Parts: sequence; structure tokens; C-alpha cells
Amino acid sequence: MATVTIADDNRTFATEAEITSLLASHGIDYQRWQPAHAVADDAPAEEVLRAYANEIEQLKQRGGYVTADVIDVDPNTEGLDAMLAKFNREHWHDEDEVRFIIAGHGLFHIHTTAGPVLAIAVEAGDLIRVPRGTLHWFNLCADRRIRAIRLFKDPAGWTPHYTASGVDGDFQPLCFGASYIPASAQ
Ligand SMILES: [Fe+2]
Repeated sequence: MATVTIADDNRTFATEAEITSLLASHGIDYQRWQPAHAVADDAPAEEVLRAYANEIEQLKQRGGYVTADVIDVDPNTEGLDAMLAKFNREHWHDEDEVRFIIAGHGLFHIHTTAGPVLAIAVEAGDLIRVPRGTLHWFNLCADRRIRAIRLFKDPAGWTPHYTASGVDGDFQPLCFGASYIPASAQ
């Protein structure tokens, strides 16, 4: 289950209904897909895509996406820091950013047009759809692990455009609160 925090006024949203409604008011879709299918989180990508074929198909029809893949990073991923450095500064894409989390954790900061920055910590079972053009940045959490289904209209469109605003520097990349420790580290 995701957690959404608005640092500006110290508010946290932790129920599915609250999160769905808050994010929808900023044009962001949020859904829970779990426990929809019994597929191991380390199953081969083809198996994961097959298990969620119906959900993927519905998203494709709604958003015009044509391809889906599975991104898989962990602390041993080669070039991980360089990869993360591309996305931890405020940017936007010409395509929607659509992610369904299979394993691990991630932290999206969304800089809304209305003003506040939303910190959205996601974990397995969370679907997030960030419309193209939305200002945002992304960090991994303490486990430095994320596995997610991604959907694209055109993978070439999924290139970051940077704002160089520096606003990302005002927010700590804290996932699920400062006290959060992933189970694997306990
Ligand atoms: Fe992005």
C-alpha cells in the first residue's frame, strides 16, 4: 500500500480511498492490483506480464499504450547510481509514466501544477499513472530494489527533460517515513 505525504503542510495519506482521491485531484491515477494474481515476484518477466495481461490490456485501451515490459533493478545492478542520477532531479516526459510495482519500493515526488509537492512511496501491488508533462522525480528506497511493469506508447518518448529548478533538493528522499526499515535489513 502506498503512502502519500505533503511535506508543505505535514499531511500523510495512507488509505486506498484517500490516496486515490488525492492523486485523482492532481490528474494521477492510482490503483491497487494485489492480490490479483499468484505470481512470484521473481518470476520471469514473460510470466509476470502474462499474469497481469488483463490489467495491462485495460490500461493499453485507456491510455493508448502499445508495449509493456518489466524493469528490474537491485543493489547489484550495473550502473545503478548513474541510472538513478538520471531520474532524481525534477523532470518531465513526453509520455505518461506508468508503473505497476511487483517488488521493492520507490519514491515519486510529484510537483503539482496547483503547488504542493506530493511524495508518493510505492510498493508491490501499487499502480501509478503520471500523465506526460507532469513535473516529478524518483528515488529508490533503502532496499535499492524495484521491479515494475512499465507501459509505453513509444519508448523513445520516455526521455527525461530537466527543469533544473533545484526544487528536488528541498525534499529528503524518505520512503514510508524516516523510521522505515525494509524487512530484508532487519
Ligand atoms: Fe520520470
